Amino acid sequence: MQIVPRSLIHHSITLSLHHSILTMSKLAINGGQKAVPDDIGFRTWPEITKEDEELVLASLRQNQHASGPHVQMLQSEFAAWNGTKHCMATNGGTGALHMCVAGCGVGPGDEVITTALSWTSSATAIIHHNAIPVFVDVDWETMLIDPACVEAAITPSTKAILVVHYFGIACDMEAIRDVADRHNLKVIEDACQAHGSTWKGTKVGNFGDAGAFSLNQNKNLCGGEGGFFVTNNDEVLQRGKAVTSFSDMRPPEAGRDFHDYGLGWMYRTSDLAASFALSQLRKLDKTNGQARANWYRLSEALKGTPHLVPSFSSDDQPTNGYSYVVRTDPGYAKERGVKLSNLTNAVSKALGAEGLPTSRANWMLPAHTVFQAKNAYGKGSPWSDGHCQREVNYDVAQFPVAQDCVDTCLWNVNTHRPPNGDRQVDAFAAAVRKVYENLDEVPVENG
Ligand SMILES: Cc1ncc(COP(=O)(O)O)c(C=O)c1O
Repeated sequence: MQIVPRSLIHHSITLSLHHSILTMSKLAINGGQKAVPDDIGFRTWPEITKEDEELVLASLRQNQHASGPHVQMLQSEFAAWNGTKHCMATNGGTGALHMCVAGCGVGPGDEVITTALSWTSSATAIIHHNAIPVFVDVDWETMLIDPACVEAAITPSTKAILVVHYFGIACDMEAIRDVADRHNLKVIEDACQAHGSTWKGTKVGNFGDAGAFSLNQNKNLCGGEGGFFVTNNDEVLQRGKAVTSFSDMRPPEAGRDFHDYGLGWMYRTSDLAASFALSQLRKLDKTNGQARANWYRLSEALKGTPHLVPSFSSDDQPTNGYSYVVRTDPGYAKERGVKLSNLTNAVSKALGAEGLPTSRANWMLPAHTVFQAKNAYGKGSPWSDGHCQREVNYDVAQFPVAQDCVDTCLWNVNTHRPPNGDRQVDAFAAAVRKVYENLDEVPVENG
């Protein structure tokens, strides 16, 4: 038997410890060990339970599939849950936003001020009623519409402000209401990502003249697809209703006369979709609570991570747990001499290699072709319709903060929402920490 000297054993233990610490901290993209274990089992949102199956089957087993009983229950239960007088279930948030615009009496040539940073529907819903979106910049910390920019963008043609409670954070509704009231403007709330988000304790959808929610797959309340139009105002309800259900404006008890009273669309939802959403709604307090708890655990674990911009939440504007947004300090990209957008692509790749999938998206709305070309319906309509009082400027250089947000925003909803729990959240945090603590080692393409 060969005798190995003690000093050599000690040396080789130290070497292998050294090696494993090195491969642990060495980024996976550079050949190191992954931060997220292979068996982590990130679970896709939402969790489907027996209650979902039973309610969906109950819808199938009755025979009113249009305007059915589950649609009625969904509307009244969401109105009660949100503390809002009226709620109409729709087939999407986009249709609900269009109903808001119409409900607020916005029409051809009217300008509606909205954020440069959102999902496309926040702006296209304005065009759906032949009005003109006017974009303004956002606040860096919250990524929400900046009330000071709103005030500066008001013209004699301004009819409404459409705010977006982006990434589940409520806008500063005191400041927005103040501007709106002083200039006699309507307020529309795009709450599509913000079920249960609050401003100073009051749920969104209760500050504006009308509000819209989405029930699309990745939203805190999922119905596969779907939406809600909400308002506390009877007149807004009537005008909003007039664009859905084929412009049928008469009360249900009047029966149908199959006459077009105006131009109508079809935004109703089916009983089947409503039954799924209803079942999810009945556990929304629980799932929102879990998403929030996971979000706060992540936030705590990521405190002090170098170059990482913490995802926003505050006492007045607490998150509903929609998404923990990963952003990099733009100053780091500058110092390193790389483009922020290229750095973000590289970070996303590095996180992916560690086992944490994230997505990027171009939500700089004025940059999209429909606005740059000023052509939605063809022949330059609605900008060319003769109702516009002035030429609106969509030069993206006006929105430097929104541009930085777009250039650095990474997100995911399937790595922290329930049924994911502590183990998945801790793995999420470990991957982000590792990449940011070794950010100098992340290979970045330039140019
Ligand atoms: C901010 C925002 N507004 C509007 C919408 C449109 O909702 P839907 O897809 O249900 O039409 C979405 C959906 O992603 C959204 O995130």
